[in-house]
Amino acid sequence: MKLTDEEKDMLAGKQGHAVRQSMEILVALGTIFGARRLIPVSHVQVAGVSYDNLGDAGLDYLAELAKDGRVKVPTTLNPAGMDLENWEALGISADFAAKQKAVIEAFARMNVITSCTCTPYLIGYRPKEGEHVAWSESSAVAYANSVLGARTNREGGPSALAAALTGRTPEYGLHLEESRGPKVAVEVACPLSGTERYGALGKAMGEKIGNKIALIRGVREASVEELKSFCASVATYGGTALFYIEGITPKPPAGAPAPSEKISISSADVASALASMNDGDGMPDFVSLGCPHLTLGELGEIAGWIGGRKAKVECWLCVSREVKRQADAKGWSRTIEAAGIRFACDTCMVVAPVKGRWKCMATDSAKSCYYARAKNKFRVRVGTPRQCIEYALGGRWE
Ligand code: F3S
Repeated sequence: MKLTDEEKDMLAGKQGHAVRQSMEILVALGTIFGARRLIPVSHVQVAGVSYDNLGDAGLDYLAELAKDGRVKVPTTLNPAGMDLENWEALGISADFAAKQKAVIEAFARMNVITSCTCTPYLIGYRPKEGEHVAWSESSAVAYANSVLGARTNREGGPSALAAALTGRTPEYGLHLEESRGPKVAVEVACPLSGTERYGALGKAMGEKIGNKIALIRGVREASVEELKSFCASVATYGGTALFYIEGITPKPPAGAPAPSEKISISSADVASALASMNDGDGMPDFVSLGCPHLTLGELGEIAGWIGGRKAKVECWLCVSREVKRQADAKGWSRTIEAAGIRFACDTCMVVAPVKGRWKCMATDSAKSCYYARAKNKFRVRVGTPRQCIEYALGGRWE
């Protein structure tokens, strides 16, 4: 791989230990994937923030880098293992909180912006079409590449942090125009609306196409909320980091060959994906919305559904602190909190240490269904956001 003089100096340790270690990671990655050079990135999003996933080994790794590492480009974080301000109300132990705070402090010493969200594109970090970034949260990676037309590989936590500390990433994979052509055409032969149905579409499609780049036809309209649900689901159940939806997202590169494979998704496929995410008729003892983190519009809708009622079932709304602040200004947070519904800012039901705390979770999210089962050992019911909130307020699944 060809390095500039500055990059050679970084690799030789002339900018300190953290930069040298980061360059070693990037050069190794670039060599494995046949990159010819490193390219600058304008923003980095780092996953691997929850102490529940990092453990002491991860914390030590970050503390070591933080001794002399400082990020060179704006860098934000994926959700942490707790609400950084309101962790006690969410039942997080003091021991866990101390470790999680040490993780955040290590990132802060590196000058990372400690806003913890999987939807950086909702709080102002919205790369333009063609812009190179290094993001690691899979749903955000799919959103950046597909909906925004930016360019990022699906980074791991260490490679994203290495990109932040050097301002560079190896030029391979989805950074290259020639790697972004669609490989499979997907005909969606059914009308769709709602985050839970877009999540089901992502599951049905992801299981059929794996990590191939898709060119999707037949979807007439999709809101930001539906697209973020679809991105999270298709990346979870299949692993794809890029898709095109005709008439909705940016187009494939000009001159890219037509996909050689073709599949179709029917109403029955979507219905069967939805059914597969519902574990019998168990009554949820936990309701969680906000995977990926909620938009301001979603919070407004939820506030409007409450009508002075009180929650009968523990209910979390997972959201970035910035979007929660916007909801505060509109008076929606007060309405929501008065109903006994809790905000889980900076975190989510998947990365928080809640394994086994509840038996059955209600959600609209196909991605959180996957991890609630696999990581937290919950049973799941998937419905519309309204169904979930009505259940939290009334204790009945309509
Ligand atoms: Fe975000 Fe947590 Fe879901 S990080 S995409 S809310 S699993």
